[in-house]
Amino acid sequence: MKDPYLLHMFNPTKNVSPFDVNMAYEAQFDGVIPYSEVALDDIHALTQDTIFSRGKKGVKRTGIFIGGREFGLAIDMLNRANTAMVPPFEVSVFADPSGAITTAAALMACIEVELKKKGEEGFNGKRIDIIGGTGPVGVCAGILAANCGAEVYLTSRRGTKVATEYASEYNARFGVDMYGADSSTDDKIMEFLTKSNIVIGAAKAGIQVLSKKQLDQASNLLVAADVNAVPPLGIEGVGVHDMGVELPDTPKKAVGLGALAVGDIKYKVHFTMFEMMKNTDTPLYLDHEAAFKVAREFAAKL
Ligand SMILES: NC(=O)c1ccc[n+]([C@@H]2O[C@H](COP(=O)([O-])OP(=O)(O)OC[C@H]3O[C@@H](n4cnc5c(N)ncnc54)[C@H](OP(=O)(O)O)[C@@H]3O)[C@@H](O)[C@H]2O)c1
Repeated sequence: MKDPYLLHMFNPTKNVSPFDVNMAYEAQFDGVIPYSEVALDDIHALTQDTIFSRGKKGVKRTGIFIGGREFGLAIDMLNRANTAMVPPFEVSVFADPSGAITTAAALMACIEVELKKKGEEGFNGKRIDIIGGTGPVGVCAGILAANCGAEVYLTSRRGTKVATEYASEYNARFGVDMYGADSSTDDKIMEFLTKSNIVIGAAKAGIQVLSKKQLDQASNLLVAADVNAVPPLGIEGVGVHDMGVELPDTPKKAVGLGALAVGDIKYKVHFTMFEMMKNTDTPLYLDHEAAFKVAREFAAKL
């Protein structure tokens, strides 16, 4: 094959995600090459091995994808790849560990649209509680919302201390102001849920984290969004395909967003970012803010 589009997938964990490999072929990369158990310190040498072999024309048809399970590590790897480039030998890099970045971007863009439909300006000043907030989707969603002026609480079943440790770590790295909250028991959940304007179910797949009875006591709630598509769903009463469906028994007639409805936007964002890598003349560094920008464009059409 003459001048193939090649995607090198640097993955810190044992297995590259088949989801990401499928998506790369969907976006018509001709060759998708996985690398597993890649450490942060390997990125410089791997990047320089990637950029020099194909000439100035070839770098435009070469890209790097960063996977894994951790949001912070993936962004560190993206930045490390950036510093290893030697222009004009420079390729685009896209980070999306565990699909967390594209999922969080789609989720937050959809929530923002629903807030505006309810006559709100957006995230500014809103309280968001993210259940399962210590996972990669929750952390990334929290950072995006905090950057938009929301008061973000990452919650953990392991208690406030652990949740606060996660929030502090990411606050220091990303220059935001998030807090920790305790989701270890139903009573602890009610303590924050009555104050929440937006609640997100972002815990491990196949776990219900909120019941309808709890939601119906959420006196300030405007939006309840769930990204868990594996039964039992994360938030009882929010269907997988729901996009702004009213939760009639909630005090402020909150609306629900379901995992597959968000997943549809996530898919479009993921695909678009691969297309952007292929079609750009200037190398791109595609992180959570870049994904959010693309997601907002898709969500605006909802
Ligand atoms: N819709 C989509 O397109 C899409 C795409 C990607 C991912 N997802 C979904 O998004 C969700 C979050 O993904 P992720 O990779 O960030 O999740 P994850 O890392 O598997 O889990 C997130 C957090 O869930 C909590 N957790 C673990 N076991 C639990 C249990 N038994 N009960 C309650 N909480 C538990 C943990 O936090 P604590 O121990 O600190 O509480 C963990 O940090 C998942 O449901 C995933 O399937 C959806």
